Amino acid sequence: MGIPIVDLVAGARPNFMKLAPVVRALAETRAVTPRIVHTGQHYDEAMNDVFFQELRIPRPEVHLGVGSGSHGVQTARIIERYEAHLEQSRPHATVVFGDVNTTAACALAAVKLGVGVVHVEAGLRSFDRTMPEEINRLVTDVISDLLLVSEPSGVTNLRNEGVPDAKVRLVGNVMIDTLMVELERAGERRTAEKLGLAAGGYGFVTLHRPSNVDDPATLAGLVDLLHEISQRLPLVFAVHPRTLASAKKAGIADRLAEGQARLVCLGPLPYHESLSLVAGARVVLTDSGGLQEETSVLHVPCLTLRENTERPVTVELGTSRLVGNDPARIRPAFDEIMAGQWPKGAEIPLWDGRAGERVAREIVGWIAD
Ligand code: UD1
Repeated sequence: MGIPIVDLVAGARPNFMKLAPVVRALAETRAVTPRIVHTGQHYDEAMNDVFFQELRIPRPEVHLGVGSGSHGVQTARIIERYEAHLEQSRPHATVVFGDVNTTAACALAAVKLGVGVVHVEAGLRSFDRTMPEEINRLVTDVISDLLLVSEPSGVTNLRNEGVPDAKVRLVGNVMIDTLMVELERAGERRTAEKLGLAAGGYGFVTLHRPSNVDDPATLAGLVDLLHEISQRLPLVFAVHPRTLASAKKAGIADRLAEGQARLVCLGPLPYHESLSLVAGARVVLTDSGGLQEETSVLHVPCLTLRENTERPVTVELGTSRLVGNDPARIRPAFDEIMAGQWPKGAEIPLWDGRAGERVAREIVGWIAD
């Protein structure tokens, strides 16, 4: 028997930062051959290729080219195409990351063909079933064979759902491995300086969740608030394609145009530019799960524009506070940050830059069993 092949599946932007340390650590074990499968859920240069280059991820061996679509269309297309790939060339296991449509779809295709499924970032729960990601997390975890968890809440959630402890391991946060490896290179980009902004003298913003951007009135209210806040602290807003499309529909795209002095609107940013802007920010306003984690490790105050989070450790130990999307709640929290009244954030156990190694060790051990 040759060396077992393990598929590592990615499709959307946040997957790439999680896959990078795992593919490296697995290759170093020499006990398995990692094979990268890209579903093509994200495909724009800025949402995809840039990340592979910056993070030095090997080119995917398999590309399924699914593209955008409704949830049903996109998920179905991924299942169909990943199943066809599995039929042609079956791996020993399929590793899926996070909570995007790619994650749940590939887990489903694999488990039905008897291929073992490993979920990296298992067990997180927002307990909000209106979020597509929550459904993806639930579906993926219930069919996974090995559940690798990033923070203690994940272990508790899986136990409460009746998942046997023997399948669950707390390994830490692989995305923080990537942050630690790339932080210096990111700083060399001097992104803020090139925008004419000083370290600590600006805020950084990202918004892309359907709950914040799909409803025109909610989005318009948030954009007004950003303009208002930017009069006190210049803001850099990395506008996601979903948000821009929604702003166009709402007739407010001019409010997110490039070339504004105090609300600097850019497109989706490469990883290094985003990380360097986060590291130098006075405050981050976001609905991204990844940014809640990154700000916590970098000790940057984070206003999380959501009512709940599947990453409670970032609130308990980190620097994130849930403020929803009502400007009346966001404003006073912003004032506290400007007044310097914000927790600095404590160290989070196992977010230490070694999670990829632990993931690799668990996968190799599980395959050998
Ligand atoms: C997806 C994930 C979300 C993650 C986010 C990060 C799901 C359910 N959601 O949301 O969890 O936080 O990625 O970005 O998987 N588009 C482009 N270019 C691209 C990709 C998308 O322009 O390369 C546009 C398309 O108009 C598309 C829209 O963005 O319809 C949404 O893309 P999609 O992949 O469906 O979801 P995201 O909102 O990106």
